[in-house]
Amino acid sequence: MIFGGFLEHMGRCVYEGVYEPASRHADEHGCRRDVLDALGDLGFTVMRYPGGNFASGYHWRDGVGPIEARPTVRELAWQSIEPNYFGTHEFLGLCDRMGWEPMMAVNLGTGTPEEARDWVEYCNAPVGTREADRRAGNGRVEPWDVGLWCLGNEMDGPWQLGHVPARDYAIRAQQTAKLIKDVDPRIRTVACGSSSPEMPTFGAWDYEVLDHLGRAADFVSLHRYVDDNANDLPRFLASGVSIDRQIESIDAVCRAVQAKHRTRHRAYLCFDEWNVWYKNMEMNGAGQHAPHLIEEVYDLADALVVAQFLLSFVRHCDVVKIANLAQVVNVIAPVLTRGDDLLVQSIHHAIRMIADRRTGTALRCAVDGPADALGRTTRAHQVDAAAILDVDALHLFAVNRSPDLDAPIEWNVPGHALGSVRSAEILTGAGPRTANTWEAPDVIRAETWSGVSVGDSTARFALPPLSFAAISLSVPNAA
Ligand code: AHR
Repeated sequence: MIFGGFLEHMGRCVYEGVYEPASRHADEHGCRRDVLDALGDLGFTVMRYPGGNFASGYHWRDGVGPIEARPTVRELAWQSIEPNYFGTHEFLGLCDRMGWEPMMAVNLGTGTPEEARDWVEYCNAPVGTREADRRAGNGRVEPWDVGLWCLGNEMDGPWQLGHVPARDYAIRAQQTAKLIKDVDPRIRTVACGSSSPEMPTFGAWDYEVLDHLGRAADFVSLHRYVDDNANDLPRFLASGVSIDRQIESIDAVCRAVQAKHRTRHRAYLCFDEWNVWYKNMEMNGAGQHAPHLIEEVYDLADALVVAQFLLSFVRHCDVVKIANLAQVVNVIAPVLTRGDDLLVQSIHHAIRMIADRRTGTALRCAVDGPADALGRTTRAHQVDAAAILDVDALHLFAVNRSPDLDAPIEWNVPGHALGSVRSAEILTGAGPRTANTWEAPDVIRAETWSGVSVGDSTARFALPPLSFAAISLSVPNAA
């Protein structure tokens, strides 16, 4: 589930994004076929909803029942107007059609544990009790059996509606987890961890929350938005190093809590918001419905960093069990809409190249080669790498972080006779800041690549500067 996405009621992610009944692309459910096709290419496994910060002021009852009877509300997280045309039924119906596993975030900001419990009953209980009967009355008799529930969102942040200190959040989250697991014991919960490694309470917050929640927390959330505000390209392109470090730090916290409790239970990591985000910081909807908020334009350098996020998740998939790209359309997203048009951004290509090759067993890769110092204790190799061994194929992924040097690579896979190149793609471009635009929509795209040669158990290729390659080799005896 590390190839997940995140659909928030923010800006134009839902409205004018996945849902636009007036579009000429709309299907019979009011969803945009062009957007869903582009998202379908990324093969999302799990989809988080309805926020984000939005979740902390959301009352789910506003979003069920006849659409014309739903209230229009003033939405405080993004200072927007929310008409609730899209709600629980619309989201879960979309998940069914797209093959996404839903992951719902309850409101632990302005909501109560009981409101969360009622939502779980509405979604998961068989008919015969109040909320389940209400669901049936609204047109859905069978329960949806939503298995993943987030216990709020970024509750460590003062910007969050209903933000409280760790202890208070932990009490709220434990009460909620108990109620919702009592309604449906199959549920797995995601407790709010630190919203970034920059938070002053990073690590301590996570420890206190997990210590109090114990078995009530199946996962702890990690969030990360990488930026290049310092205008320091080498450091930005080395982001994978600090993503590794963030994961390993929170994994250590989980193990420390487990040791203290002397239990077999440990919380796993749910990286449920991640992306590059820093160029467009417009977050005030100014009382508009579907305002243009944080519509980041992604360039080649961003795509190389996005690839590094996913390579880090692959390397750490023994502990990172879920991850969600934030977000999926318009709002810091791989696709943008403008009227009925659609633009595929650079990051879409990087994600698709990995998603197409994601099944199998992640291998440990040792990288030996040139590296730059990042501060006193850390080094970033010129090449970031990950590999996945599938039944009859080996998938290799490599980013060349250097803006001006080729990276000649010898990839040794001891003990495996490598077969032929089944497919190879490369993503590169004229410079780090080259981006697809409405005027030139195709300047950054994945190209078929013939630069790979294979002999015995070694693959050889030379990555050009600022590039990302995804390679699949046939491995006759892998099974
Ligand atoms: O993804 C945008 C916002 O970033 C989310 O709503 C919030 O959780 C985070 O701060």
